[in-house]
Amino acid sequence: MNVLLTGGAGYIGSHTAVELLNRGCDIVIADDYSNSSPVAVERIRQITGRDFPAYHVDVTDCEAVRRIFRENKIDCVIHFAGKKAVGESVEIPLSYYRTNLDAALTVLECMKEAGVSRFIFSSSATVYGSLNPIPYREDMPRGECSSPYGTTKAMIEKILEDACHADSTLSAVLLRYFNPIGAHPSGLIGEDPQGIPNNLLPYIAQVAVGRRERLMVFGDDYPTPDGTCVRDYIHVRDLAQAHLLALEYLDRGGESGPFNLGSGDGFSVKEIVETARKVTGKPIPATMKPRRPGDPPTLIASNHKAREVLGWVPQRGLEEIIADAWAWHQSHPNGYDG
Ligand code: UD1
Repeated sequence: MNVLLTGGAGYIGSHTAVELLNRGCDIVIADDYSNSSPVAVERIRQITGRDFPAYHVDVTDCEAVRRIFRENKIDCVIHFAGKKAVGESVEIPLSYYRTNLDAALTVLECMKEAGVSRFIFSSSATVYGSLNPIPYREDMPRGECSSPYGTTKAMIEKILEDACHADSTLSAVLLRYFNPIGAHPSGLIGEDPQGIPNNLLPYIAQVAVGRRERLMVFGDDYPTPDGTCVRDYIHVRDLAQAHLLALEYLDRGGESGPFNLGSGDGFSVKEIVETARKVTGKPIPATMKPRRPGDPPTLIASNHKAREVLGWVPQRGLEEIIADAWAWHQSHPNGYDG
């Protein structure tokens, strides 16, 4: 099986590449390195001891994507490529709609031309909006997303549903990620946000390594047990393994549709900070701040469908996740740059 990973040098893409190569799949990576590093591609080769083609392309460039399909016999595409900063998407929505929709449409059109019919999409829990009850289940309707980033995910899901409806040979799995954190235990690949991190774990890690002075906790007056937001954190390796299971599912003729990828457990910001203090042995100073606009109080997955249909069993608990993240950040305090 030969799998094209768009955005394969990114955080989730690189971890998925490792799992696929370790299980004997062949891969091709397409990445423009706009929010990732070519070093990650070398690290994937180093961890797995395997080689594969990597194209430095923007997947909105139809000719460049066509060339990949011409030069490689691809069986399935996993589409990670896209812009993903929630706050930035509120400031420059047109750029988010243009890039994320264009990338998905270009890849889908080129797949069709090349006769490739299996697609796995990196979606997000944010497509549930804020009105559905917790835990989120796949049979609940999509809601109003809190950011243009989220809306691009919901729109691409809808595009895929319509495309699969119109073309019975196309099958698409929509993987709805909750909060992926952690890193490969080798400490060779991990999350490498550009600039000031928006997400909790990279920010905490930068405080722990001394790159930033203190964490700002956005809101302690939420209707949650300790007042801080509750999220469903999942190890990026567990997430990566779900992609392999989704490939196997499509290979045995599985139906198109969404799957939640979360642990099913919720942890508050305070609990995460406490666990990070314990694992790192660092004080991690934290200051309470007002709520961040658009943050829902609680986000937790029901992962029954992924467990039952894909056979997915997330295996790594919070301490292990944070320890793996810490190994990466400690050895790479400036990400792939050193
Ligand atoms: C967001 C997106 C999600 C996306 C994910 C990863 C929404 C609703 N969610 O998740 O779609 O997949 O990012 O890109 O748009 N926090 C702090 N201080 C910080 C940073 C975060 O207190 O410096 C808090 C936040 O208020 C939140 C929690 O930590 O309660 C987790 O935040 P974050 O890691 O940014 O993820 P989400 O916002 O849940």
